Amino acid sequence: MATKGPNPAPSLRELIAGGTLSGTVTVPGDKSISHRALLFGAISEGTTTIDGLLPAEDPLSTAACLRAMGASISPIRAGEIVQVEGVGLDGLQEPDDVLDCGNSGTTMRLMLGLLAGRKGRHFVLTGDSSLRRRPMHRVSQPLAVMGATIQGRDAGNFAPLAVQGQPLRGAVIGTPVASAQVKSALLLAALTAEGSTSVIEPAQSRDHSERMLRAFGADLEVGGELGRHILLRPGRSLRGQTVVVPGDISSAAFWLVAGALVPGADLTVENVGLNPTRTGILEVLEQMEAKIEVLNRRDVAGEPVGDLRVTHGPLKPFRFGEEIMPRLVDEVPILSVAACFCDGESRISGASELRVKETDRLAVMARQLTAMGAEIEEHADGLSIRGGRQLHGAALDSETDHRIAMSLAVAAMLAKGNSSLARSEAAAVSYPEFWSELERLRC
Ligand code: S3P
Repeated sequence: MATKGPNPAPSLRELIAGGTLSGTVTVPGDKSISHRALLFGAISEGTTTIDGLLPAEDPLSTAACLRAMGASISPIRAGEIVQVEGVGLDGLQEPDDVLDCGNSGTTMRLMLGLLAGRKGRHFVLTGDSSLRRRPMHRVSQPLAVMGATIQGRDAGNFAPLAVQGQPLRGAVIGTPVASAQVKSALLLAALTAEGSTSVIEPAQSRDHSERMLRAFGADLEVGGELGRHILLRPGRSLRGQTVVVPGDISSAAFWLVAGALVPGADLTVENVGLNPTRTGILEVLEQMEAKIEVLNRRDVAGEPVGDLRVTHGPLKPFRFGEEIMPRLVDEVPILSVAACFCDGESRISGASELRVKETDRLAVMARQLTAMGAEIEEHADGLSIRGGRQLHGAALDSETDHRIAMSLAVAAMLAKGNSSLARSEAAAVSYPEFWSELERLRC
């Protein structure tokens, strides 16, 4: 544990500055793939077996919602195979209570698509205070074009949301933001709609749903320029599959940046998913001239995977914008930490989506890194960071966001003097072992 001495409050963690990192780490299963394996398994015929499912709070929220509607899912425990007994495409029952999506935007948005077409059944979805502030119009409005009835505050924008299951019709839908959550919600709704559905994205977002739906037997085609156009024809039932979940590159990102920044570090991160719609972080680290080697490239159950070795070395500042954003959207907080330790100015633009994540990640990173002495300017759609200043230890706060908690842990290691981190337990949303792994790798 990164904690030293008794903690004044359970979630206030002392972060010790200094030291280096060395060894091998296996990051937990990919969060996006874990949600999808549970969801698609639940609406398949027969059994789905999931190896490497992420045993963290977000997928547990998805599993709890599915169980409440009649899917049988074995206990989700680290290192154990999970079995899902599917109920078929239209077999989910009306739950006798509100469905709680916790902190998980993926759970809520994909559930809206899944439930909109369950004729004659009524569902109410809610979540924690962060999720109840996140915009759901991006899903409820295109679903309304297909005939969905979703009601809630601000005309169906904010949870709690009530879904009155309706017969849906296929449609051609252009999504205004490149969002895999929106795309996946529409594809889930399309599975039982009358007629085919086309989803056209402004840029390709992560394609785990497309890969997995096809593997489960859906009639789905990906086309258009750079895979931006997805066509789904309904009528085929899904069949239970064996899913092997690779490690999450978004969790690996903390070790990759820490390994590149911390003097003397040498880390190997094993079994990392390298789906090209997710590897923007590697493109930016390459631009920074970080020393990263990809070893043992292989394909596991339809997803590319490899081991990544990172060693410390001098880093160049970076610039990136809208084009790369869908491939690294969750890695912006840790990259803003990396920018603080490069000589020169780094610039992140085209990142306004960060403002509607678990927190407003541009504002929170600017606030927290400024408290450590960083020179950082916030823009409407990004950040400018002048690196090279010595950061100092400070009273930090994750502000309830898992990726902020872990990003600040890396910054604190490189600061002069120790820091404290309030609400550090947020990391459990995607990486429950993060704090113990940090302590294990530290030397
Ligand atoms: C996710 C998609 C991304 C990402 C989120 C997980 C998914 O969100 O930020 O952590 O599993 O589909 P958007 O689709 O809103 O970009």
